[in-house]
Amino acid sequence: MRINTPINHSDTFQLGHHSVKRLGYGAMQLAGPGVFGPPEDHAAALAVLKEVIASGVNHIDTADFYGPHITNRIIREALAPYPDDLVIVTKISARRGEDGSWIPAFSRDELIQAVHDNLRNLGLDVLDVVNLRSMLNIHHPAEGSIEAPLTVLADLQRKGLVRHIGLSNVTATQVEEGRRICEIVCVQNHYNLAQRADDELIATLARQGIAYVPFFPLGGFTPLQSSALSAVAARRKATPMQVALAWLLRRSPNILLIPGTSSVPHLRENLQSAALALSASELGELDGIAFTAVAGSPR
Ligand SMILES: NC(=O)c1ccc[n+]([C@@H]2O[C@H](COP(=O)([O-])OP(=O)(O)OC[C@H]3O[C@@H](n4cnc5c(N)ncnc54)[C@H](OP(=O)(O)O)[C@@H]3O)[C@@H](O)[C@H]2O)c1
Repeated sequence: MRINTPINHSDTFQLGHHSVKRLGYGAMQLAGPGVFGPPEDHAAALAVLKEVIASGVNHIDTADFYGPHITNRIIREALAPYPDDLVIVTKISARRGEDGSWIPAFSRDELIQAVHDNLRNLGLDVLDVVNLRSMLNIHHPAEGSIEAPLTVLADLQRKGLVRHIGLSNVTATQVEEGRRICEIVCVQNHYNLAQRADDELIATLARQGIAYVPFFPLGGFTPLQSSALSAVAARRKATPMQVALAWLLRRSPNILLIPGTSSVPHLRENLQSAALALSASELGELDGIAFTAVAGSPR
């Protein structure tokens, strides 16, 4: 069943082999609380994924350390055999402690194991796109060479287990280092209306034809809140989350969105943002949020 959504008429951008809709879906919210353990409502998680595909989304972001293993297994249960045009992007270099903690897993053996875990749990022979997530600092990009782990991933690509490679939680210097080792098709970093550290990197990647995929586009664990955002939303009879996504779609043509949700109503709401064309003056108002945030008060 196909659902008529505005994303069926929205722009696309090349991601590896495929041209994908600019509005995709992030699957992290499908695991249990704290991205750990099974979801509280398994059937609801399956329903979200089925609606994702029925709505025309053809880009899903995941990781085998969500759950761990849970999110990938739910994706497989809901969607395999996968639609031909679906691009599933996963990421490697972390594992979960028994208490749910996030632990770097950056060694050669751990990276190889992670690729095989993703293949098995997603039920695939080859992974479309694998992001190497830098864990030099777990929380934000930190300078340092990524050559050793990226070379491991490039070897797995040569062996045919991985089609395309991306980077996550990285600096501009690391992207350049990465591009000397293998082709980089996407960069996934923390970015949204209030978190604008990558403005310059996004422009550079756009010139290079590389997709930029912001994580936490809605603020992640701390949803975006701002009086300017609420004011624009009220005027446009939209929700603040829709405006936050519409702003990202206008920000740069190489931005691909992967808002996360465990709720079908939220999914529907988020996909409608593709139809929300913001004016230049609204963009200006929204740009002001970042300056307030830099001053320490993202309201
Ligand atoms: N590379 C990395 O290091 C990294 C890190 C974090 C995330 N990611 C990826 O990025 C994706 C997106 O990030 P994210 O899911 O953490 O954060 P997000 O998309 O910024 O926000 C998700 C949060 O917003 C809520 N939400 C979603 N739509 C909403 C709506 N219309 N109205 C109100 N609340 C709404 C969700 O709750 P409900 O479930 O209730 O809708 C959830 O709590 C993830 O799914 C994951 O694939 C990557």
